[in-house]
Amino acid sequence: MESITLTINGMTVTVPKGITILEAARMSGIYIPTLCYHPDLKPEGACRLCICEVSGAKGLVASCCYPVAEGMVVKTNTSKVRAARRMVMELLLANHPQDCLSCQKNGDCELQKMAADLGVRTRRFDGGEMKAHTIDDSNPCLVRDQDKCILCGRCIRMCRDVQKMNVYSYARRGFDSMVSTAFEQDLSNVACTYCGQCASVCPTAAIREKDDTERVWDAIHDPDKVVVCQIAPAVRVS
Ligand code: FES
Repeated sequence: MESITLTINGMTVTVPKGITILEAARMSGIYIPTLCYHPDLKPEGACRLCICEVSGAKGLVASCCYPVAEGMVVKTNTSKVRAARRMVMELLLANHPQDCLSCQKNGDCELQKMAADLGVRTRRFDGGEMKAHTIDDSNPCLVRDQDKCILCGRCIRMCRDVQKMNVYSYARRGFDSMVSTAFEQDLSNVACTYCGQCASVCPTAAIREKDDTERVWDAIHDPDKVVVCQIAPAVRVS
């Protein structure tokens, strides 16, 4: 396999040609925070949390999408990079519900973890307009809470590229941007098979499995509502 040599944070590394800066950094033991990136999915560069300084590039680049090149000089941890990443995180949190303590994903949320890693402990941008979607729990297996969606697109790529179902896509524009089903229907009205793969890659609780508490509660009040959800195993993208 053809290799190339580049410099990351002053360290000379030799990596296979054709991989991204993020992959090269990870191969070299260098940490770069990510949110929209998932190793089983094609990179999309949606969240911009993985931005780095690259010689010759105009502005900061998304390392999950940017291919390495011979002689490239990459800096992943400068004050400029850290400040930009914190800004990205602060903007994400500005439009995110503040119910972490009661959220099903508390302690297992990638947004929460990344905010902690970046040292973002307070909400700098507060008081503006917030998303206010209706929760979709129309089906027996999954709950969609669009207010917790960070538009990373992992669910879209998993459903479209891996499961070949294409249930989700981006819809609307600007502040109203959202991940939607066809005609913004509930999951029970589209071609979803409830395989659960979208929930398995969602970094927050925007798509989650219905938890046992809900099922037990349902069982108490209506035994007919109790269902067994089988989550299919993930399939790796080649
Ligand atoms: Fe690279 Fe989101 S992880 S842009």
